Amino acid sequence: MKNPPKVTIFDTTLRDGEQSPGCSMNLEEKVRLARQLETLGVDVIEAGFPIASEGDFAAVEAVATACRQTTIAALCRTTEADIQRAAEALRKAERPRIHTFVATSDIHLEHKLKKTRAEVLEMTRNAVRLARTFCGEVEFSAEDATRSDVDYLCEVLAVAIEEGAAIINIPDTVGYTTPTEYAELIRTIRERVVHDSDVTISVHCHNDLGLAVANSLSAIEAGARQIECTVNGIGERAGNAALEEIVMAMHVRADRLPLETNVRTQEIYPTSQLLSEIIGCPVQPNKAIVGRNAFAHEAGIHQHGVLSNPLCYEIMTPESVGVPNNRIVLGKHSGRHALSKRYDELGCLLTPIELDAVYVRFTQLADKKKSIYDQDILSLLPTGESTRINAFKTNGADAVVNEWAASGSYQ
Ligand code: KIV
Ligand code: ZN
Repeated sequence: MKNPPKVTIFDTTLRDGEQSPGCSMNLEEKVRLARQLETLGVDVIEAGFPIASEGDFAAVEAVATACRQTTIAALCRTTEADIQRAAEALRKAERPRIHTFVATSDIHLEHKLKKTRAEVLEMTRNAVRLARTFCGEVEFSAEDATRSDVDYLCEVLAVAIEEGAAIINIPDTVGYTTPTEYAELIRTIRERVVHDSDVTISVHCHNDLGLAVANSLSAIEAGARQIECTVNGIGERAGNAALEEIVMAMHVRADRLPLETNVRTQEIYPTSQLLSEIIGCPVQPNKAIVGRNAFAHEAGIHQHGVLSNPLCYEIMTPESVGVPNNRIVLGKHSGRHALSKRYDELGCLLTPIELDAVYVRFTQLADKKKSIYDQDILSLLPTGESTRINAFKTNGADAVVNEWAASGSYQ
């Protein structure tokens, strides 16, 4: 049987991700994250934009020195100075890639670059040609590709390939496209520009309409073979396509997306946590894959189902993405099964009648309190139950129980 095709995971957390407000990292933090990205198994780490600052230059150099297994990319515009600076920062890289970009949409040409289409075509030609003199692997990005005239876009991409770009990236810079439109664009580029060559089509989606992951996956179905993404989906404005969502979509739905990545999925959660800790930005609780609630179940019917068989309400195991365990959250929507299981875990076996009585008190408490802790659960037990107190002692809950027993506060 033929192996499924491979998709290259290009991580731009340290470049596009770091560009978002409140997400900046110092050199030591960048290297720490880069090492974890290497452990995660991404294929390419875009470490920075060397001409942008001394700090970015140093970060690219340091990441290139620290990470020897992964391709290290440095971003640059199409000017000679930019390209030289990127090449210099990559000097020590084991696997360097120069990533040069220029905008191709009329709106950017007219209002930002103040260049004609012919001039941008020449800039592309000269930039890729120069970059190739420094580096065997060159990627070219047509910024704002999804709002560019498709004939002109194809013309620019063809020139980049002619000059030796091995990867052509089609960014949805402003998060404007839709899955079907983007797939159509990728197919057009494949047919008109790439033909049967070895050139890789890459996609880079922003999340302004919340479609970055959907658009990236749609492009993969249309033949793209590199996805640019960031951990936790951080990035300019509404962010970039989230690495963890893309990888797990391909993993869980291999029946519809039969493609492989080199990502070790168990490293996803540790990577997400490390980034969050470094930038001091918590992950939203309901974030897919890595959010605190992604594997939490509070509704009684769901808890019962998950306790019987996790497959009832979980399409992947928490362990598969490195989350320690699924969390049964006790709250006002919880049922007897979950409550009984928690008592079991705390070392206390209740009879069905006792459970009924405790459950009534539990629902009354849950109506009043947002979060129910183990101390609350224990405090619901009747007084004078020495066997249970002993059980709690065995489980290390003695302080709580002693307090409860001494105060006699339980009613
Ligand atoms: O969004 C974008 O167009 C970019 C390019 C520089 C690849 O980040
Ligand atoms: Zn971007």
